[in-house]
Amino acid sequence: MAKVEITKAELVWPGKYNEDGTLTEVPRVNLPFQVIETVNESRASRETKKNKGEMLFDVYEGKEGDTFEKGWKNKLIWGDNLLVMGSLLGKFAGKIDLIYIDPPFATGADFSFTTEIGEKGVELEKEQSAIEEKAYRDTWGQGMDSYLAMMSCRLSILRDLLSDTGSLYLHVDWHAGHYLKCLLDEVFGQERFRNQVIWWYYDKFPTGGNVLDRQHDFILQYAKSDKYTTNKVMEPRVQPGRPTEVRKKIDGKITRIIDPTTGGTTFVEGTTEKKISDVWRIPLINSMSDERVGYQTQKPETLLERVVAASSQRGDLVADFFCGSGTTLAVAEKLGRRWIGCDLGRWAIHVTRKRLLGIENCKPFEVLNLGKYERQYWQGVTFGKNGKTVTEQALYEYLAFILKLYGAQPVSGMAHLHGKKGKAMIHIGAVDAPVTISEIDVALDECVKCKQPELHILGWEWEMGLYDLMVEAAKKKGVKLRLLQIPREVMEQHAAAKGDVRFFELAYLEAKVEKPKKLTAQVVLKDFVIPNTELIPDEVRSKVKKWSDYIDYWAIDWDFQNDTFMQSWVAYRTRKERKLPLTSDTHMYDRPGRYRILVKVIDIFGNDTSQVFDVEVK
Ligand SMILES: C[S@@+](CC[C@H](N)C(=O)[O-])C[C@H]1O[C@@H](n2cnc3c(N)ncnc32)[C@H](O)[C@@H]1O
Repeated sequence: MAKVEITKAELVWPGKYNEDGTLTEVPRVNLPFQVIETVNESRASRETKKNKGEMLFDVYEGKEGDTFEKGWKNKLIWGDNLLVMGSLLGKFAGKIDLIYIDPPFATGADFSFTTEIGEKGVELEKEQSAIEEKAYRDTWGQGMDSYLAMMSCRLSILRDLLSDTGSLYLHVDWHAGHYLKCLLDEVFGQERFRNQVIWWYYDKFPTGGNVLDRQHDFILQYAKSDKYTTNKVMEPRVQPGRPTEVRKKIDGKITRIIDPTTGGTTFVEGTTEKKISDVWRIPLINSMSDERVGYQTQKPETLLERVVAASSQRGDLVADFFCGSGTTLAVAEKLGRRWIGCDLGRWAIHVTRKRLLGIENCKPFEVLNLGKYERQYWQGVTFGKNGKTVTEQALYEYLAFILKLYGAQPVSGMAHLHGKKGKAMIHIGAVDAPVTISEIDVALDECVKCKQPELHILGWEWEMGLYDLMVEAAKKKGVKLRLLQIPREVMEQHAAAKGDVRFFELAYLEAKVEKPKKLTAQVVLKDFVIPNTELIPDEVRSKVKKWSDYIDYWAIDWDFQNDTFMQSWVAYRTRKERKLPLTSDTHMYDRPGRYRILVKVIDIFGNDTSQVFDVEVK
């Protein structure tokens, strides 16, 4: 290895430098975003833009202005923040006023999300009616080395996204905080360090053991330049300050002022508030608090209120690229800031969306991802030679990789069948296109030709309306068909390495559109079947009283245009409100015509199932 030139103290780890002594390059990719859902916005208020490509969604064009008045829409982005932040650079470099991140802390543990089932709240039937799902992994192949490599490239992109008056707040604890401070010194410059805030969660239960009880995290603040936004934030005093004597300069002499009514010295009341310091005494979220959403590493809103109030103004753009349950976004929304949030977890995105919907007068926001572009990129870097072209060999490796995760073996000499698991043949969909009806048809025909009784199709996306048609078609051909979703975790190195990847079978949804009056429509859910009930612990399954207990959320786009799902009616369960209506409100159309209604259901595992209905409204 060539000599590495070290001119000042710095933190190094294996992989930081290349063989030739140069720094490893930070991958900065620029991929197009897709808008998969818009929330709280009416279709009429949108410009008409159509994307008639193979994908089902609009591509984000970033044409809106920088204020709510000029059409700005807040953004919740589902994906790996390395690719997401890289792809935001084009439009948002130097534009974000405040970034708070609370990344995994390198604890080596997995973190969970708890969701209740059915109509009984968690308070009533703790444990028995709740399922605990893995929300994210905080395990790193090469321990601290992999963790630092992961954080270092993200911090350098974060810095470029910050505006000149912006600050980064990085929430850490004892595991890696000291290393991350060194990294930040390198990325921002030591002179840009502003504060090390101690969050003292004084009410944490003592844990015992041989070390002093840990009762604090710390938050490192770095500013992009000397001219950073900073506001005075006040907190109540534990005890009001002592009254102080009023003094004035009279004839050049400091003189006490006499109160004419008492004849004594005049006093002013002691203050009840004081400016916050860098030690924040804030309790953990109480287990019965309305704020709690079941996300294990959720932070209190009062903590984020201080960050947002201290370092941004109304209308500023605030971002959190490890947003978890969406605490930063909820606080930014309530304090009138614009926001961008990102997380790679299905649960995180679902929980955040519900949390924001629960905020009164929440402004419209969009849910985006990098869809097929993220998958193509992953396929290129994982199986391609130069990270770009996907050769036949790379394609073969991709198929073999998915088959292995699914517990199947590759087969050769078939045109449309890629593998076999027990009695079932397997077909795997491409990363960059939805599985189509004709694609399944030819795979079914090949099964018939080879006298194979069962076919499993693994896909990333699905052509609209395929489920019912294909199940029928397969029955006629005498082949048992299962359609399974390839989960996003496949692209997460650590999840895949641990075999921590579940392929959920597509759920069956039955709904009916009714037309109670002239020009109206109403949707009634009739049935919902999750084929993978074996994934639910037995004792929980026994608590499921009816099919609707598996539904956590459902929403309707009354005028779906084969692009972005525009949520115009929604119902969902919360920790407090467990009841879920199975009949929607009645929607009134402006004029008669043919409309396409899209119904989207999210189940208790966080998976989506959609169904379209073409209706004639008179
Ligand atoms: C400690 S939690 C954040 C909790 C959050 N502050 C809250 O109040 O709910 C860290 C989050 O980072 C997310 N995460 C980890 N790696 C990520 C990545 N590469 N891209 C996006 N999100 C990531 C995890 O899914 C997890 O939700």
